[in-house]
Amino acid sequence: MRTSGRYTGATCLAALTFLLVGCQQSVDVPSSAPSAVAPGPSVVRATSPEQVHRGALLYAANCAVCHGARAEGAPNWQKSGANGKYPAPPLNGSGHAWHHPMTALKTTIKRGTLSLGGSMPAWNGKLSDQDIEAVIVWFQSHWPDELYQNWQVMDEKARKGKAAP
Ligand code: HEC
Repeated sequence: MRTSGRYTGATCLAALTFLLVGCQQSVDVPSSAPSAVAPGPSVVRATSPEQVHRGALLYAANCAVCHGARAEGAPNWQKSGANGKYPAPPLNGSGHAWHHPMTALKTTIKRGTLSLGGSMPAWNGKLSDQDIEAVIVWFQSHWPDELYQNWQVMDEKARKGKAAP
């Protein structure tokens, strides 16, 4: 008489132990979704310390009154005031200035927003192109590396004509 092969109790126990150990392992789930571009020290900012310093002075003299000393934006910048206009948004990376390529940032600053029903004066004629670039790189110096890197990728595409400004 033949006995059919069967798993021994030891095999089952080994398998069960394996499963239990597997369940006990803590899973390290990252709190934020993986980003398209890995952050790191490799981020190269297209600027120099002198340009950032120049931008800081120009920003303090012309922009801080509305956008805040550290470009943190006006309090309640997301709520329109009694006149229906919005207070100045942050430029430090917590608003959405980083969604705009360099050309769009320059155009906004040059033209201002008065003609669009907003409240930012035009800087064309008051600040030179170099001044405006210096102010932009100053507020960009407040952006975290990852944000700046994502902006660089988008700006590069815009310059190649692949994205709307
Ligand atoms: C009188 C207040 C005021 C001053 C001064 C001012 N801004 Fe603004 N700025 C605003 C407001 C308000 C907005 C949002 C658009 C609107 O509603 O007018 C804005 C928008 C912007 C934006 C677009 C931000 C985005 O999220 O898209 C940039 C960039 C900007 N300002 C840069 C500057 C710079 C650089 C200076 C100084 C040279 C400056 N602003 C001075 C009020 C001001």
